[in-house]
Amino acid sequence: MEIKISVLCDNYAGLRLFRAEHGLSVLLEVEGKSFLWDCGQSDVAVHNASALGIDLRRLEGIGISHGHYDHAGGLPAALAAAGRKPLFMHPEALGEKYLAFGENSLFIGIPYRLEALESLSLGVELSVEPVEVLPGVRLTGDIPRVTDFEGLEVGLFALKEGELVPDPFPDDQSLVVDTPDGAVVLTGCAHSGLVNVLKHVLESHGRIRAVVGGTHLGLGARRERIDATLDFLEEVLPGKMILCHCTGQAVMQEISTRFKDRAVQGQTGLTMNL
Ligand SMILES: [Fe+2]
Ligand SMILES: [Fe+2]
Repeated sequence: MEIKISVLCDNYAGLRLFRAEHGLSVLLEVEGKSFLWDCGQSDVAVHNASALGIDLRRLEGIGISHGHYDHAGGLPAALAAAGRKPLFMHPEALGEKYLAFGENSLFIGIPYRLEALESLSLGVELSVEPVEVLPGVRLTGDIPRVTDFEGLEVGLFALKEGELVPDPFPDDQSLVVDTPDGAVVLTGCAHSGLVNVLKHVLESHGRIRAVVGGTHLGLGARRERIDATLDFLEEVLPGKMILCHCTGQAVMQEISTRFKDRAVQGQTGLTMNL
């Protein structure tokens, strides 16, 4: 089964004319059909797609992992390049999200209203349930929280009834490719906790073949969470992990030392057959 990923937006840029920004966008190609997973925060993903010779008009659809600007801000640019396509996200992704420390807060949610996204796309499917977006490829929908070492994250808030509360990220979901050798899992930031995500996928797929995307281990994650996550990866992941975006340099270094060539640091322009 042919599965290819191309990193169109990441915090780091590869060689040639690729651009970087704080954000994530990955093109998934399965048996010749392509689906865009997140869009970065600007037109960087579109620029990098063009530098890779990728025609975004061939997309079957676009999925958004969660409601942060660095994953959904690039939607208008992506839809302008791709033409109107079906768009998929969790309804809570449209909530008001903030980065806040002390008295200071910054809006970091999706900077567009649903009506605007509907007018640019072929329609927005908002679902808390799993949704099949390509044959054998589905969005997870809600991720149950089962671990005790993954939880609310430092500085990330949601506005609920006029008050900032720690964001529980009900909107965070992953994209899963079903293959005979196990699941290929694409995360956004894994705000649900990477282990929660993988445990959920293992319930339906039995095995994990590869993990691609952000892990959110680099931004204030506690040591206990990092250790437990890496131990879990060692247990369940025989194949590759391509870690991007919010994984963090120090943790990436640690993962590279421990997992050697099974771990690849994502960067824009990286393409890989899985
Ligand atoms: Fe992010
Ligand atoms: Fe995020």
